[in-house]
Amino acid sequence: MRTKVVAGNWKMNGDQAFTRSLLTSLLDQLGGDGRPSCEVIICPPAILLTTAREALGGSTQGSNALGDRVPGSSFIQLGAQTVSEHEVGAFTGELAPSMLADAGCSHVIVGHSERRTLYGEADRHVVAKFKAAQAHDLTPILCVGETLQERQSGTTQVVIERQIRALLNELGVAALSSAIIAYEPVWAIGTGETATPAQAQEVHARIRQLVASRDMAVASGLRILYGGSVKADNAAELFSAPDIDGGLIGGASLKADEFAAICRAGSNR
Ligand code: 13P
Repeated sequence: MRTKVVAGNWKMNGDQAFTRSLLTSLLDQLGGDGRPSCEVIICPPAILLTTAREALGGSTQGSNALGDRVPGSSFIQLGAQTVSEHEVGAFTGELAPSMLADAGCSHVIVGHSERRTLYGEADRHVVAKFKAAQAHDLTPILCVGETLQERQSGTTQVVIERQIRALLNELGVAALSSAIIAYEPVWAIGTGETATPAQAQEVHARIRQLVASRDMAVASGLRILYGGSVKADNAAELFSAPDIDGGLIGGASLKADEFAAICRAGSNR
């Protein structure tokens, strides 16, 4: 039985006051008896990670001075939205994986379609970022997905298999034993047009089959999230599909009530 994951990708939204207020409300709604059984991750802009960590009650999943993982004082884990593939040095504007771990991150999104299309990240960059993240014990959330044009031309599976094979061929299937995949059809992101549970399930099942063709155990433990216009009112149906193990939530993760409801939808099945 895979534990579901609900992750919020805030993208380039929020400030310190917003962060404190949203997280206070989330902790109120999901703390105590309301605590969800799914894993909950929030991925704010990097400059708000420290504010988020404080609002969540100190260290979340960072390392201490000895480099050991410190158990979180909050059940809400922190993730970043991207990471440099480099360790240190002259890379203006970039953030190293060690810096994200130091700021309290346990997860990092890699290969989001906005990074791929707006910032020219190719599969080889995504794989390098994935590898760098894992080298610092950050769990990568690898995003894959097809554009509308690719879906309409019938190449959805080809595109997704190319994105995942790039990783499997370079790092081997074992790399997926401590990672999460998010299937995010580009045409469903921020459009209000959600993939139907059947459309998403079909792709998720194919992703799992592809991984299973390399390693059955890794495939059966792999959490595959759906992302693209997930809301409180469609989350439960999506999450009930057998290969949908939770969601990567954009717009709805900026509203405490919506996000809390999605976390509850990820909890009770
Ligand atoms: P929306 O939920 O706003 O469609 O965004 C999805 C997404 O891109 C999450 O990474």
